[in-house]
Amino acid sequence: DLDRCPIFTSCEAIDKLFGGHGVPIGKITEFCGAPGIGKTQLGIQLSINVQIPKNLSGPGGEAIYIDTEGSFIAQRAQEIATATVQSLSEKSTEPLIDVETILSRIHYFRIHDYIELLAVVKILDDYLKEHSNVKLVVIDSIAFHFRQNFSDMALRTRLLNGLAQDLTKLVDSFELAVVILNQMTTKFGVNSGTILTDKPVLVPALGESWSHQCNNRVILYWRDDIRYAHLVKSSNLQEGTVPYKITSQGVRD
Ligand code: GTP
Repeated sequence: DLDRCPIFTSCEAIDKLFGGHGVPIGKITEFCGAPGIGKTQLGIQLSINVQIPKNLSGPGGEAIYIDTEGSFIAQRAQEIATATVQSLSEKSTEPLIDVETILSRIHYFRIHDYIELLAVVKILDDYLKEHSNVKLVVIDSIAFHFRQNFSDMALRTRLLNGLAQDLTKLVDSFELAVVILNQMTTKFGVNSGTILTDKPVLVPALGESWSHQCNNRVILYWRDDIRYAHLVKSSNLQEGTVPYKITSQGVRD
């Protein structure tokens, strides 16, 4: 059962949204949210938590981090890894991995345009055969290069569908989770429930066709200075909303 060793988020409330287990292996999970809401922090936290050893109920894996915006900061990853190791060591006397090893097990790809993104995802199949311990692929973010300079929307849809197909093949062929970070965009005249509104509303970027490509979609947002995660769509889980925090140690309750 591929769902047996999911990736904890370090926020119990978000783990509970996913049935108590965190981000599922064998699925594509998308987190959407406005700038600063903490998507990159979550991506880094998951890249660390996927390495939690099996003797501590973790997946004992490695991560691939595909960075399209230059958001990944090694020093921040080191800080979150240090805090994660510290909190694990307080809970258990089982042997742990050290921070340097954790950082070396985040395979980092910096992408500069959408062609590089498509190319990297294409070669992942071969890369994963050589790095069979990788159990998480993060794309931070999917929208960045597809929103810039894209006048041909039909081409964009085709490319995104192809990308989604490649990612689906990966989750089907390897025992791993794909986590996609996505931006929000303003839309006018959308149907909110049964009411057609002319007010601008924030919706996940990349449109309707992309919205069907992921197994789970979570929207991250603020209200009154509190951050919330709202599971809006899932193939097997119930919709729900929970609060979470970004602290100096990473993602927390
Ligand atoms: P974009 O990449 O701009 O779309 O944003 P994002 O959603 O990826 O946000 P990101 O993960 O970069 O989160 C930024 C937020 O995380 C900041 O506004 C801070 O609130 C928080 N944050 C980032 N670094 C630290 C840190 O070192 N300490 C603390 N306490 N919070 C941090």
